[in-house]
Amino acid sequence: MLLQDKRIAIFNVANKRSIAWSIAKSMDDQGAQLILGYQNERTKGAVEDLAKELAHAPIAVLPCDVSLPDQIEQVQESIREKVGTIHGLVHSLAFAPRESLQNAYLFTEREHFLTALEISTYSLVALARALTPVLSDKASITTLTYYGAEKVMPGYNVMGVAKAALEASVRYLAHDLGPAGVRVNAISAGPINTVAARGVSGFLDILEVHEQRAPLKRTVEGREVGDTAVFLASDLSSGITGEVLYVDTGYNIMGF
Ligand SMILES: NC(=O)c1ccc[n+]([C@@H]2O[C@H](COP(=O)([O-])OP(=O)(O)OC[C@H]3O[C@@H](n4cnc5c(N)ncnc54)[C@H](O)[C@@H]3O)[C@@H](O)[C@H]2O)c1
Repeated sequence: MLLQDKRIAIFNVANKRSIAWSIAKSMDDQGAQLILGYQNERTKGAVEDLAKELAHAPIAVLPCDVSLPDQIEQVQESIREKVGTIHGLVHSLAFAPRESLQNAYLFTEREHFLTALEISTYSLVALARALTPVLSDKASITTLTYYGAEKVMPGYNVMGVAKAALEASVRYLAHDLGPAGVRVNAISAGPINTVAARGVSGFLDILEVHEQRAPLKRTVEGREVGDTAVFLASDLSSGITGEVLYVDTGYNIMGF
């Protein structure tokens, strides 16, 4: 029970394929008490239903649309009211308008660029700042990134740029929050067939090539990402901050 007595907030679950849900299940298995976030009324019911499958009933299921600053503040107030403090925050959310993931990056529109960076990158900074007052000593913050931050994945486009900024944010936040004992890390997950991933043109080709080239000759499972998130939230990783950990069946080590 690596997360016994730890309260961890996970933003956002959309459905059973969400990486956030895989993380919730792994953390639940390790005894964590969870707060689950959902984006809007469209996903609320699904998340409440999924929450019933957990061994430990969640502390709360909260709305969190990161484009609404008031709602981020409300999350902080809800946590303060219900439990006082939390020991971990998982940021597993991203968005880019579909058009920006279909055409060449050269044609990314200003509005689409700003939306992708606001929702996928700035939201980590906003959530970390809003929740700092309710983070316990030695709390852990984990976000989700992808290899398209470093190398060109045709079709990933502005999301690659957003992930590059996210990974840099992890390092700057690790520096800012380190003196308070708070750690900030990212998991670079291999491709997983989720709603967000299917928005990337050519995603099925990415999955196929990944299987052929990765040293383990398969794609990664949500559970494997979830188990790594457990490690990063647990005291076993107490010396690790500002890092990007690959959970990608080894794909990133290959040159060809
Ligand atoms: N699936 C992959 O192949 C893969 C690989 C590496 C990293 N990731 C990252 O993992 C994270 C989770 O994505 P996923 O693949 O589980 O897909 P998903 O579609 O299940 O999850 C995306 C989540 O983002 C939320 N979201 C979108 N706009 C939002 C907003 N304005 N406010 C709050 N929440 C919002 C959605 O509600 C959803 O819960 C993302 O950061 C994604 O980039 C995914």
